Amino acid sequence: MSLWKKHEIFEKHSIVLVIGILFVVSIGGLVEIAPLFYLKSTIEKVEGMRPYTPLELAGRNVYVREGCYLCHSQMIRPMRDELERYGRFSLAAESMYDHPFQWGSKRTGPDLARVGGKYSDEWHRDHLVNPRSVVPESIMPGYPFLLETRLDSRSIADHLTANAVAGVPYSEEQIAEARKDMMAQANPDGDDVDAFLERYPNAIVRDFDGNPKEVTEMDALVAYLQMLGTLVDFSIYDDKANLR
Ligand code: HEC
Repeated sequence: MSLWKKHEIFEKHSIVLVIGILFVVSIGGLVEIAPLFYLKSTIEKVEGMRPYTPLELAGRNVYVREGCYLCHSQMIRPMRDELERYGRFSLAAESMYDHPFQWGSKRTGPDLARVGGKYSDEWHRDHLVNPRSVVPESIMPGYPFLLETRLDSRSIADHLTANAVAGVPYSEEQIAEARKDMMAQANPDGDDVDAFLERYPNAIVRDFDGNPKEVTEMDALVAYLQMLGTLVDFSIYDDKANLR
């Protein structure tokens, strides 16, 4: 009975009730937030993640400019139907160099987090020029101008610098050579390929747009798409834990 009497003070004075509510709710907040102050990083380090190459970064800029994220997500959730359709669930580390991140919130089209290597460059080219030519029922718009638009290489070093400011570990050399590296990745027969591969060891060097005469926005976008989800080497994790 005396307990109910003590409770009266909360029920009769709204200020006391508000202070009481704030006190109780803040316990929940503290339990969630306090442990984070004792962690160096909330992103687990994984083998294989590297900053995007200049060409991939340029392709990513095209992806953002054209609003691909309005129809495509880049985050596979750890749920059975997603794993069966798209592959391994996304790790935090896989978007650690994304500024801004491209997780998206709408899937008019499929998730693209692991689309790298799923199709050939030719397929991507045909699909981006006219999606109906390879997927007859597709409602995706075509982007034929990408094939005809020469990639602007003047600002790429600035894009690397901006990412470096945001915390992406580009070296001074990578920034200084950004323009050369961007062209080298799309010219497998060029002279700068070896130097490029030294700076970005597991990058793919190919003529992505099928036009060796020119480096176009199509080169950049396809290079970006073919890299998505392929950087982390999961084979070394398979022994440790059955992630899938
Ligand atoms: C209006 C919505 C919409 C926009 C905008 C859009 N897409 Fe799509 N996309 C789709 C749909 C729907 C599909 C599934 C049908 C198909 O394959 O064409 C798709 C499929 C894809 C696929 C094949 C995925 C797979 O696993 O089969 C890729 C790659 C892709 N889109 C890339 C892009 C890129 C890059 C852009 C931006 C330049 C883009 N899309 C813009 C709707 C969209």
